[in-house]
Amino acid sequence: MRTKTLFIYTLIAISGLVGCEAKPTKKNSETVDLASPGKGNDAMAKIIAAPVPDTNEPDLANGRRQFTKCKVCHTLKKGESHKVGPNLYHILGRKAASMEGFRYSKALADSGLMWNEGTLDQWVKNPHQFVPGSRMSFLGIRDDKARKDVLAYVLKETTMEKAEKN
Ligand code: HEC
Repeated sequence: MRTKTLFIYTLIAISGLVGCEAKPTKKNSETVDLASPGKGNDAMAKIIAAPVPDTNEPDLANGRRQFTKCKVCHTLKKGESHKVGPNLYHILGRKAASMEGFRYSKALADSGLMWNEGTLDQWVKNPHQFVPGSRMSFLGIRDDKARKDVLAYVLKETTMEKAEKN
């Protein structure tokens, strides 16, 4: 978010500079009414009027950064090995504790959970509260935005190959 704002300010600054440089040359070729908005000003106005990024959309770049918290324990791609935690390929729509070759806690295995966006959200928010006795040694991400971003990233990375396969 901060980087985006900075980027927009940089654009405004650059277009301001270009505008200043362009004015004297324009003066030579055609009459320029300084009171009316010139091309440079139009461009600037467009930048200023550009819609503010929708904050309801998940920020995948932030999600990727957030995933560094999970990365020590989880892989996302098909065929990648389990680490401390299971590989999460095609986690969405899967029964909890159903990745082959991973030894789950009894608590998660017996939970009867299906992983959808709601259950994943609660799990990542506070795994120990959601499934008491689970073995995921992770306190959870309480920040709603950070959690939304990381889950969007995980789901994108773990379901992408599904479309490629079809
Ligand atoms: C310290 C290691 C560790 C970290 C960090 C960690 N996990 Fe886990 N995760 C585990 C373990 C271990 C399990 C299996 C839990 C069990 O059997 O009770 C698990 C299970 C899961 C499951 C359920 C998998 C299944 O097959 O049912 C999901 C989803 C998951 N983790 C997502 C995440 C996400 C997203 C993050 C980061 C925000 C994260 N985990 C961070 C170790 C970790």
